[in-house]
Amino acid sequence: MSDALIDSLTVSRTRYQGAIREPRVFAHDIASRGWAEDARLAALLDAYPAELFDINLYDYDAEGQVSLRTGARGRASGAELLSAIKQGRLWVNLREVERGAPELWAEVERAAPTIFAAFPGLKPRKLSGQLILSSPQAKVPYHFDAAGVVLWHLRGRKRLWVYPGDEAHLPETAMEQVVMRQTTEEIPYSRAFDADAVVVDLEPGQALTWPLYAPHRVENLGEFNVSLSMDFQTWGSRWRNGALFTHGVMRARGLTPVPTDRVSTPGLAARWAASVALRRAGVAKSRLADFERSFEPDATAPDGAKAL
Ligand SMILES: [Fe+2]
Repeated sequence: MSDALIDSLTVSRTRYQGAIREPRVFAHDIASRGWAEDARLAALLDAYPAELFDINLYDYDAEGQVSLRTGARGRASGAELLSAIKQGRLWVNLREVERGAPELWAEVERAAPTIFAAFPGLKPRKLSGQLILSSPQAKVPYHFDAAGVVLWHLRGRKRLWVYPGDEAHLPETAMEQVVMRQTTEEIPYSRAFDADAVVVDLEPGQALTWPLYAPHRVENLGEFNVSLSMDFQTWGSRWRNGALFTHGVMRARGLTPVPTDRVSTPGLAARWAASVALRRAGVAKSRLADFERSFEPDATAPDGAKAL
């Protein structure tokens, strides 16, 4: 990564300036402790609570535009699931590692402070993890996370594109929709954006973090991949997410809120407080739960996905 590229992602192009100014790679030792070995993963899949599985299959057209199919956990054993992922085109996300695999989570909690300490002023709260098992050719579409992220890479190789978080790459109206959970995390993408990205190839034993909200996408480099994605909030991100939610509700009612980067910190905090009340009142019920599951993992089916 060149210094010029890093400069291009700083102050002017990162919409919500936080403690993390540019994508940055760290070394970690979790990968060397056997967590991503087949037997360990099969046992973990067997034991993992079924309600914490997200199984996705992404299809792309020639312009890189995506459509998503979601799968059900099904009754396959951990070993069978693992072989479906290795042979298919699947993206399996095991949510809440802190609950589903507490021993693995303890490793992350042990290693994380070193990374956080590299960013003066960063005060992460509410850490949560997703263990991601993905097929050799799997790709994750352009999206942003409404949280800070550290991606701990454990097995295989993958390439990440990290983009500037400005209005051109990350329109605030699209962010509002994501924060209100009216859509999955995808936002408008054009191949031309790739010229603006910092590109990082991740190896096992490396962890990557990037500026809050920076859009990104991922392509596996022909190998079965295991990563643990840890997300965290800060008071800054919490206020911002709350303000985006409140603005989304206002916009749905015909109002035109100003961009959140023109709102003062007390203004953001007030909008966050409003969002807490709005959520409690059941405004903007999530539509994500309605996604119909169309397949279950099966190593013998095309793409590792047997139609339901
Ligand atoms: Fe992400």
